[in-house]
Amino acid sequence: MTGQKLILDCDPGHDDALAILLAAGDPRSDLLAITTVAGNQTIEKVTRNARAVCTIAGVTVPVARGAAGPLAREAIIAPDYHGDSGLDGPVLPAPEVPLDPRPAAQLIVETVMAHDPGTVTLVPTGPLTNIALALALEPRLAERVRRVSLMGGSYTRGNRTPAAEFNIMADPEAAAAVFAASWPVTMVGLDLTHQALADDAFRSRVRTLGTPLATFVEDLLGFFSAAYARRGFAAPAVHDLCAVAAVLEPEVMTYRDAFVAIELAGTWTTGMTVTDFDGLLDRPANTRVAVALDRDRLWDLTVAAIAQLGR
Ligand code: RIB
Ligand code: CA
Repeated sequence: MTGQKLILDCDPGHDDALAILLAAGDPRSDLLAITTVAGNQTIEKVTRNARAVCTIAGVTVPVARGAAGPLAREAIIAPDYHGDSGLDGPVLPAPEVPLDPRPAAQLIVETVMAHDPGTVTLVPTGPLTNIALALALEPRLAERVRRVSLMGGSYTRGNRTPAAEFNIMADPEAAAAVFAASWPVTMVGLDLTHQALADDAFRSRVRTLGTPLATFVEDLLGFFSAAYARRGFAAPAVHDLCAVAAVLEPEVMTYRDAFVAIELAGTWTTGMTVTDFDGLLDRPANTRVAVALDRDRLWDLTVAAIAQLGR
């Protein structure tokens, strides 16, 4: 297969589930592996959820369980957005996709090192614990990986605290290691993903597919919509989908380069992605920051990927 080689590291999570479908269904994608990390729910729940989504979608790539908590802090979860199962809404099948025996960090390292340098993109859509552990396990990853396209952070406001977005806040030390490494990073943060509100126009296009997978997506979005409506959103933000789209069709959004660092010691601002677009800190830019989204184009490629999976 000659597509974009991806490893998806996720914490399903409703929007993570959509990211799996896009990464598996888009013909430009060569999904090599899926790894899971504790975040939206516990590691056991997000791993079961990842395997269940793969079962529904007919995805047969290796799936490995990752970190059960952050590098140096207490774990946080998000049942208020994703429910007690982490994927409330649809009825989930018993997972038929086997669990790879390797820990996530080991699977990430072995998969990247088995491919030519500069060909594998890491797409983390949860806390960055596994990515930091993989980098510690094999420091050469920083020059071997093509790019890290992550959902996380914000250059304005957070969603877990006023300053911090959930994925970064869940493991700030891991995020600091990821942004400080020498690999190219694309930050798809809340400023971008809050433009990706899965509205009725998108949902009716999915329903029109008329497949069991379309029904699964509709059930996901039904629950997710209610969670976001409780916070005053007209529709749910499908954050993680955007981190995959940034790899498969980069033109679906626009970017600005910036120096980004993670606040680790702020009384009120721990987990903040301090984003310097203007050189105020006299540091070279280390991150491509997504700023504007072509939402219709995102829906086009997402509906096409769900249709392509044909389930
Ligand atoms: O802040 C949004 C992020 O946190 C998304 O990745 C969502 O799935 C949760 O993990
Ligand atoms: Ca996620």
